[in-house]
Amino acid sequence: METTNYVSHWQKSVPLLWNVDEVAASLERKFGGVRRTEFVGGSGGLVAAWGSPKRILDCGCGSGEFTIALAKRGYAIDCSDGDALMADATRQASEAAGLALDPKVLRWCELSRHFEGGYDVVMLRGNSLPYVLSWGNQEDQFRIDCEKADESLVRSFRAIREQLRRGGIFYFDMPHVFEKEGKEQVGKGEIGGIPATLTFDIGHKRGHIRRVISELTVGNAKEERIYNGLHLPFVKLDDLLQEAGFRLRDIRHCVAINGENIYSPFFVSR
Ligand SMILES: C[S@@+](CC[C@H](N)C(=O)[O-])C[C@H]1O[C@@H](n2cnc3c(N)ncnc32)[C@H](O)[C@@H]1O
Repeated sequence: METTNYVSHWQKSVPLLWNVDEVAASLERKFGGVRRTEFVGGSGGLVAAWGSPKRILDCGCGSGEFTIALAKRGYAIDCSDGDALMADATRQASEAAGLALDPKVLRWCELSRHFEGGYDVVMLRGNSLPYVLSWGNQEDQFRIDCEKADESLVRSFRAIREQLRRGGIFYFDMPHVFEKEGKEQVGKGEIGGIPATLTFDIGHKRGHIRRVISELTVGNAKEERIYNGLHLPFVKLDDLLQEAGFRLRDIRHCVAINGENIYSPFFVSR
């Protein structure tokens, strides 16, 4: 997909928004640990194979911070992103961390082109879903075709569902339904020893659009990026997930994850 370069803005934003290790540790508890128990056919009948790593597909890996944190914990993790620059950033960060992640450049609806399914978890964190049609669109506008976006989300959910084993978890997150409009400081810390802050100026329009002006200040330097995305009420997500084959009783909203102070996690099991 065509994108403006968001890599360095996102890489600087991540540690201001989250403590990545705290989130990864909490996810490990929620996913039920790193190891899985498998039952395989053997000459004497079913034999238990203990301890192979759980398999995760991070299909919106971005610049890779969370993918790498989970890989370091021992998960067998594959990854992809629709933005080639983001995927490349994950590859470089993985090499720097001594890992060998091989991020594919794929939109969510194309996952089956590279992945063969059977994952314990498919993840899409960091509020990725709202950008299904518009990631990297810097224009300060509020134009996203609502019908096309819904179709694209359903196709994406179907493709994600196909990658899950039965009982596997689709983990994603979204702004809470009660998110307020306006400007707010969402992160504070240091970048390269220099004090840094991140503010989001959030606007909702015409029921289905959410526009964020993200302003990063590092010392005296300021930079801005615009994220044009969808405003997705939880009830609508429930409908779209069901259209893609998930069952309402398998959808959990607002799962508590330590260190996730911005978005509302969903866990949806297949
Ligand atoms: C806000 S970033 C989150 C990145 C990462 N998950 C994290 O938590 O840091 C959203 C990511 O979703 C990806 N994305 C948006 N729409 C996509 C689509 N239709 N298919 C694949 N990736 C997409 C973007 O390229 C971007 O890297």
